[in-house]
Amino acid sequence: MMASLGLQAADANYQVVPLPQNIALEKGAPFVLSGNTAVVVEGADEAMQRNAAFLKQFVRETTGITLAGMGKKGTTITLKLSNKVANAEGYVITVKPRAIVIEGKTPQGVFYGIQTLRKSLPVEQTATVNLPVGKIVDYPRFGYRGSMLDCARHYFSVPFIKEYIDVLALHNINTFHWHLTEDQGWRVEIKRYPKLTEIGSKRAQTVMGNNTELYDGVPYGGYYTQDEMRDIVKYAAERYITIIPEIDMPGHMLGALAAYPEYGCTGGPYKVAERWGVFDDILCAGNPKTYEFVNNILDELLDIFPSKYIHIGGDEAPRDRWKNCPRCQAEIKRLGFKGAPGTSPEAQLRIHFMNQVAQYLAQKGRSVIGWDEILEGDLDKSATVMSWRGVKGGLQAVERGLDVVMTPRDFCYLNYYQNKDRNLLLRDAELFIDKAYAYDPVPADASPALKQHVKGIQGNLWTEYVISRDLAFYQLLPRAAAIAETGWTENDKKDFASFKQRMRNLNARYKQFGWNTCQDIYKK
Ligand code: ACM
Ligand code: ZN
Repeated sequence: MMASLGLQAADANYQVVPLPQNIALEKGAPFVLSGNTAVVVEGADEAMQRNAAFLKQFVRETTGITLAGMGKKGTTITLKLSNKVANAEGYVITVKPRAIVIEGKTPQGVFYGIQTLRKSLPVEQTATVNLPVGKIVDYPRFGYRGSMLDCARHYFSVPFIKEYIDVLALHNINTFHWHLTEDQGWRVEIKRYPKLTEIGSKRAQTVMGNNTELYDGVPYGGYYTQDEMRDIVKYAAERYITIIPEIDMPGHMLGALAAYPEYGCTGGPYKVAERWGVFDDILCAGNPKTYEFVNNILDELLDIFPSKYIHIGGDEAPRDRWKNCPRCQAEIKRLGFKGAPGTSPEAQLRIHFMNQVAQYLAQKGRSVIGWDEILEGDLDKSATVMSWRGVKGGLQAVERGLDVVMTPRDFCYLNYYQNKDRNLLLRDAELFIDKAYAYDPVPADASPALKQHVKGIQGNLWTEYVISRDLAFYQLLPRAAAIAETGWTENDKKDFASFKQRMRNLNARYKQFGWNTCQDIYKK
């Protein structure tokens, strides 16, 4: 073995995840990255200055090298904006022996170039890294590349949320769908309705196992203050990630109903749920005050989250209470809902409820996203549908001219088991990584409507059984990386064997950050 006297040189490899669309290597002496490399930013753009700071931070974290070079004598990495890059999220990296240039149409595109450069470096302490000369021309396949985290079944701390956002940034994911309210807990501070968090964020205990009759007897709670959420929105925005908050309605609302029973059909009393599933008690859609309640909550939410889209749920809302509620039935009568083939008056009322919220948000310049149940009626055309019960909802939505985000549970649900091991307690369903990787939301022979309206793909991490940081990372990675590659890389360039090989370097990075992830694909 060679005696290690000081640090050696290492080699970079542009075969990263997600795979860039075009990598053209050239022959010749490599670019040598070292402490003598300077980062140069063209222009005074604040986001570009932040990009430069990120680049320095990432290189230091990965290799120990501090990019402190003095320009002309050493090598340079130049970050610049360029209209020659067509895609708003695209970038071009040109590597020459003495200079690397990362260009993007926007600072966001440059950021993804920085991520690719970062992921090309070996994870090891080294004095220099050789980067092969050549050119990488890259852009994302889909504009919506999402990742959902359920912070309602279990609460995740602010530092964890920032780490989660770091994970998204590392994989070129640009949307964090934040599931904030549930039957088992309301996690958003709303100043006008303090009981939402005083009462609604706390459950007395939690069921044990897969919905057994045993309970742990341990009170559970937690919520995000408005200041915390603003801080997280800023942290995400600096990493070019939009947060779409979700207030799930009219179902999955026991957290809110426990605090304000007057907005339910029976008037309660209700309690914050202590087991998992779908509950009959939902918001009363026949009470005008319910709409006021929802609008007032949304007003505070809009003030915190600048996203164009607000997710308003719409899933799993049983109609039993509405069938027996005089106010809901009077509303059905007033609106003339008689049920149509394939639907019921209560289903029509649900779409009416969702449309009312959509119209309120439209006045405020926002648009709604909802789960695919919102297709069961004459849905407002401005709504985007999240297809989760399969791909069928997505197909139906595009036929009706609606935009869609594909997140079919059989391919995109990260709460499912990822191998045959049943030592962990999880939702009793499976999603192995090869299946997650193989899913293509828009196959080559898809209809023009599908090609036009499918905006992207999202992985969903529900957390009934995901109780800790470690388990969250284990469920998330590497499957989120597989979904991220589908979101970014053109389908004809994807290959599972190559993905597994390319994941090794990324896996080393996961380990460096202390993210304990599933290691199955690295086994021989
Ligand atoms: C869902 O999984 N209920 C959207
Ligand atoms: Zn009612």
